[in-house]
Amino acid sequence: MRLPKAPLKFYSPKDSADTQESLPNSIVLELRKSLLSWYNYSHRNLPWRRSPEPYKIWVSEIMLQQTQVKTVIPYYERWLAKFPNIEHLAAADLQDVLKAWQGLGYYARARNLHKASQEIVERHGGLFPHRLEEVLALPGIGRTTAGGILSLAFNLPVAILDGNVKRVLARLMALPVPPAKASKQLWQMSETLLDPQNPRDFNQALMDLGATICTPHNPACLLCPWQPHCEAYNLGMQSELPMREVSAPIPHKIIGVAVIWNDERKILIDKRRQTGLLGGLWEFPGGKLEEGETLEACIQREIQEELAIDIEVGEHLITIEHAYTHFRVTLNVYHCRHLSGIPQPLECDEIRWVTLDEIDQYPFPTANVKIIEALRQYVGKRGK
Ligand code: ADE
Repeated sequence: MRLPKAPLKFYSPKDSADTQESLPNSIVLELRKSLLSWYNYSHRNLPWRRSPEPYKIWVSEIMLQQTQVKTVIPYYERWLAKFPNIEHLAAADLQDVLKAWQGLGYYARARNLHKASQEIVERHGGLFPHRLEEVLALPGIGRTTAGGILSLAFNLPVAILDGNVKRVLARLMALPVPPAKASKQLWQMSETLLDPQNPRDFNQALMDLGATICTPHNPACLLCPWQPHCEAYNLGMQSELPMREVSAPIPHKIIGVAVIWNDERKILIDKRRQTGLLGGLWEFPGGKLEEGETLEACIQREIQEELAIDIEVGEHLITIEHAYTHFRVTLNVYHCRHLSGIPQPLECDEIRWVTLDEIDQYPFPTANVKIIEALRQYVGKRGK
């Protein structure tokens, strides 16, 4: 068994929630130096590190907010080819912007990028601002994203605190509470450690440390430049930290979904309202199954409530399981036939009858893309 070294006591469990023992300056300097020399050899070669152009950094930071690096890379490359600068993005149609985002999730990010680009053109002459208050005033940019953009694009000394960084710092300090309960201390720690001489590399190094060494499971402590100063490692607690919040069970929604065909072999799709999850995306209409209801009755009721039309519910097409962050859904998808009534957009922004060939022009959520694939297979087999 490894004997704990003398703890450094960056943080004492006796401290109240918002006091913190100050870190000796000599240790701060050592931590900066060891992290930067590790980064010098071990940095990841990521596409947004090729140029400090603020627009490119901004797009990458927004994409990386809730999405992993390997998923982001192809989206990032395609995005820059389609919207190479702020003016292009500001002039683009929101539908095209959402289409370029299709599959990345958290679509408010795309709507905010679009809106913010228009504000930058109007208020800042098309130049990304470099004052913290101005950056924070843009839609979709919180404190850590602002820190990421300002440090990476302009090399300004603004700290970051994303999920990876919280984990690194919580272990470094052996934080005895879940990170969400110690936000102030964690920000203070990130600010104290930030190297004012080289904020760009320092913040990138901190991100890389969290992503490649100080990982959630099996952290590679033996390769970590901060291991000699890490309280969690000293205490042998790196696998137990950061402490977790007790999480509520994830709700499960059962949804009836209609693929409504008309006599011209067109399908009815609707555009969701702009606000909320998946806002502005297109979908197949439907809704939540109520207690004691059959799926057929659910679909008929939802379509009457949402679109004011009568339909016949026919053959089952596909069942799709999909997990969002805070809930999961089961989509039970049925072929339906339009019987009577002119569809009205009662609970959506817009409705359209489209052919299966036209449908790709519209941005759909990932779970609905699977319905389109199933429809293509079905039509291929049946020649519907
Ligand atoms: N996560 C957030 N910002 C990032 C960046 N610039 N590089 C890698 N991962 C990140």
